[in-house]
Amino acid sequence: MAAKILDGKAIAQKVRDEVREGVARFAAAHGRPPGLEVVLVGEDPASVTHTRSKERMSNEVGIRGRLRALPAATTEAELLACVAELDADDTVDGILVQLPLPAHIRAHAVLDAIDPAKDVDGLHPMNAGLLAMGRPGAIAPCTPVGCMRLLAEAGVELGGARAVVVGRSNLVGRPMAQLLLARHATVAIAHTRTRDLKALCREADVLVAAAGKAKLIGGDWIKEGATVIDVGMNRDDAGKLVGDVDFDAARERAAWITPVPGGVGPMTIASLLATTLRAAEARVA
Ligand code: GUN
Repeated sequence: MAAKILDGKAIAQKVRDEVREGVARFAAAHGRPPGLEVVLVGEDPASVTHTRSKERMSNEVGIRGRLRALPAATTEAELLACVAELDADDTVDGILVQLPLPAHIRAHAVLDAIDPAKDVDGLHPMNAGLLAMGRPGAIAPCTPVGCMRLLAEAGVELGGARAVVVGRSNLVGRPMAQLLLARHATVAIAHTRTRDLKALCREADVLVAAAGKAKLIGGDWIKEGATVIDVGMNRDDAGKLVGDVDFDAARERAAWITPVPGGVGPMTIASLLATTLRAAEARVA
């Protein structure tokens, strides 16, 4: 069977349309739009592109999105002062410090200084802890939130399903596993050191690939009828953008699959916008 394609571009558009409506309602009720501040330290080209997209796309849905671009030589103390200022600003609902930070800045010190209520990246230990405990009010990172929306749009039944998440990062793998668990999936977190990763993946009704390794997951690793969510964004030898999954082979066995590009990628910023709106609503409630 050839898998159906989970069209992240179209679903992200739908999410942005929903957020635009919610933002208009919020602004009418509170006399100001939700505010998102994106902080970039240095000039890493990929980070510059990503943060500009976050700023532009937030403004496109009516969020007041602002990018603070700080020089690479910014000290940890200066960055902490910037975060403290944004924490104290009542018109700021979301703060995102783009990673990676320069090596002379301790990322954990900066992330821990963000007000958990404004932590739209879901990287503060308070939010990670609430999510792990299954408690309400946690802000989850944008990429796994986007993946959950894709699964919902496909109508995938998660209760009792076997889910395998390949990857254990704080930004994707771990929170993804928690979100699936919260929806009553039976979840395994695997990684590149997992013994016989192939055998584990072959048991997955839902397979989330977030290892950051081009074509790690072959077509014969996929259970017939599985749903495959590919978070990977790697360049192959020819410089082409490819996922962690061998797409052409996997789509012969899966029921649903996300393409790369055009699957999870577009969902990430759309989810950030949705999370910013949610954070704004929670802050005024
Ligand atoms: N760098 C790459 N992706 C992300 C993300 O989702 N959040 C942050 N803060 N930095 C990133």
